[in-house]
Amino acid sequence: MKQSSALFTIIHGPNLNELGSREVNIYGTETLDDINKKISAHARTRQISTNFFQSNHEGDIIDKIHTLKNGDCKGMIINGAAFTHTSIAIRDAVSCSNIPTVEVHLSNIHAREPFRTQSYLTAVCIGIISGFGSSSYTLAVDALVEHLSL
Ligand code: DQA
Repeated sequence: MKQSSALFTIIHGPNLNELGSREVNIYGTETLDDINKKISAHARTRQISTNFFQSNHEGDIIDKIHTLKNGDCKGMIINGAAFTHTSIAIRDAVSCSNIPTVEVHLSNIHAREPFRTQSYLTAVCIGIISGFGSSSYTLAVDALVEHLSL
């Protein structure tokens, strides 16, 4: 059996700390802590360990991504939340990290307001998983495992 090795970092953007009470008709009732537990439990079944980071501040997210460069993080999963639609700076940080990254969203950003259909992140990510609630993240773990042949 393969032994635990790779580390994935999961980055959550603004307002995701409010999950559980925030627009439950769109985002559901799971809290961010519930979701992180679900991701880490799933990742463990794939022999992946996980680190989590959430911030409401664009620069803090950029600084966090910079710390991952040249470290032991093998893959990144990012829900940029509203910064997805606005932040060239986070896009550039993902791009210069050279870490294979999957963009995720709980909701289907293409089935909502027109301004949510633009993502600055997609082009610098391997791909995007959007619309499967918290399972978007576990699907992203599987996609990264597959992509990295772990
Ligand atoms: C979101 C979608 C974004 O448009 C929104 O700003 C969010 C959450 C999602 O996970 O569905 O905050 O990224």
